[in-house]
Amino acid sequence: MPPLSSAVQASPAKNMSTAQKRTAIRIVSSGIAEIQSKVTFPRSRSDYIIAETKAFALNAADNHQIDVLGGSGSIVGCDWSGVVLEVGENVTEFKPGDYVYGLCHGGNSVEPEDGAFADIVTSKESLTMHKPEFLSFQEAASLGVGLATIGQALYWVLNLPLPSPEIPVNSGPTLLVYGSSSLTGTIAIQLAKLSGCRVFATCSAHNKELVKSRGSDEWFDYGLPDCYERVNEIGSSITYIVDCIGSEESSIFCSKVLAPTGGHYHSIKAPLPKSFKASRPEKTAVATTAFAYSMAGERFEFPGMKFAADVAQGQFAKKWRGIAEDLVASRKIQPHPVLTRNGGLHGVLDGLNEIRSRAPRGHKIVYSRDP
Ligand SMILES: NC(=O)c1ccc[n+]([C@@H]2O[C@H](COP(=O)([O-])OP(=O)(O)OC[C@H]3O[C@@H](n4cnc5c(N)ncnc54)[C@H](OP(=O)(O)O)[C@@H]3O)[C@@H](O)[C@H]2O)c1
Repeated sequence: MPPLSSAVQASPAKNMSTAQKRTAIRIVSSGIAEIQSKVTFPRSRSDYIIAETKAFALNAADNHQIDVLGGSGSIVGCDWSGVVLEVGENVTEFKPGDYVYGLCHGGNSVEPEDGAFADIVTSKESLTMHKPEFLSFQEAASLGVGLATIGQALYWVLNLPLPSPEIPVNSGPTLLVYGSSSLTGTIAIQLAKLSGCRVFATCSAHNKELVKSRGSDEWFDYGLPDCYERVNEIGSSITYIVDCIGSEESSIFCSKVLAPTGGHYHSIKAPLPKSFKASRPEKTAVATTAFAYSMAGERFEFPGMKFAADVAQGQFAKKWRGIAEDLVASRKIQPHPVLTRNGGLHGVLDGLNEIRSRAPRGHKIVYSRDP
């Protein structure tokens, strides 16, 4: 990881005093993060905006950043919403004063200033979207990670047709969303429907209504021991799977319901569970995983792993940004249920500890920046 000083030596944001400081949750060492004031202001980058935050959503990934993946000194957090303060010289879609939400790469050891859990954040234009008036900042804060992750999964990795009103309903392939009551799952159902897929969904019985409300054609309770047999009874035509749980158990299930002729299994949880290919070794059964962080089109690192910049994916993200923004603004994508709390960054730290032992099911926890 570069020393923190190397990340803050470049020019500060236009019109911002070099003396201006911000408050942020930063990783101190593996497993420990704390609120620090007097954190250096983000530097001005040509395709980034700088914004004042209004709300933050929690993700399991935030704790993973703190415990394993993040660099010490880096700011934690991915999901946020707020108001634009400054835009970089190549930014065309935003101006100061715009209400926005987006995805930041928290715990980024290459760019330690990039995390979302701060009063002031810096966010790549291609991963930032305008907040429609009808959504609260709290609802909007829950959307950035999900839209990027599922946009990447369905359209970059699985190569499905982009959402269009011209695609007839159910004219496309059958796609299973495993763990469909997750935030990523409810977004996956809605996007896959807009891409013409027939959508099967699995989750726990208590989240059935949520999943059905998002448009799944068939729903299955994965708590039942014969669930995969029930799926196969409906038809063995599933050629695409988005696994939002990504465990060995979920991948075994998915290996049993992917069509006998093959198809594409994508786990949004990395690393890719080994069980899928152990069960479906044939070449026609493709298995992939990906990190939403790659959508920035920039290089990043985890301990022992380096990821080169995927410039083509970064270009795709620019296009996806506008499509996703429009789908949300036209109410074609409904946000996940959110449980909102006040408490600011102190609340976020408490919430991160809470979800270590009691993960939310069927909703996202969101904190307003106000205490
Ligand atoms: N590739 C990426 O860059 C990327 C991006 C975002 C998320 N992810 C990963 O994708 C997964 C889903 O993320 P998310 O934010 O969409 O999830 P989420 O909204 O927090 O939902 C998790 C869902 O998983 C189900 N679940 C099954 N076993 C569970 C357990 N032991 N504890 C809690 N929930 C359990 C629950 O549904 P039921 O109650 O219906 O069973 C719950 O609704 C996470 O592992 C996350 O780290 C990866």
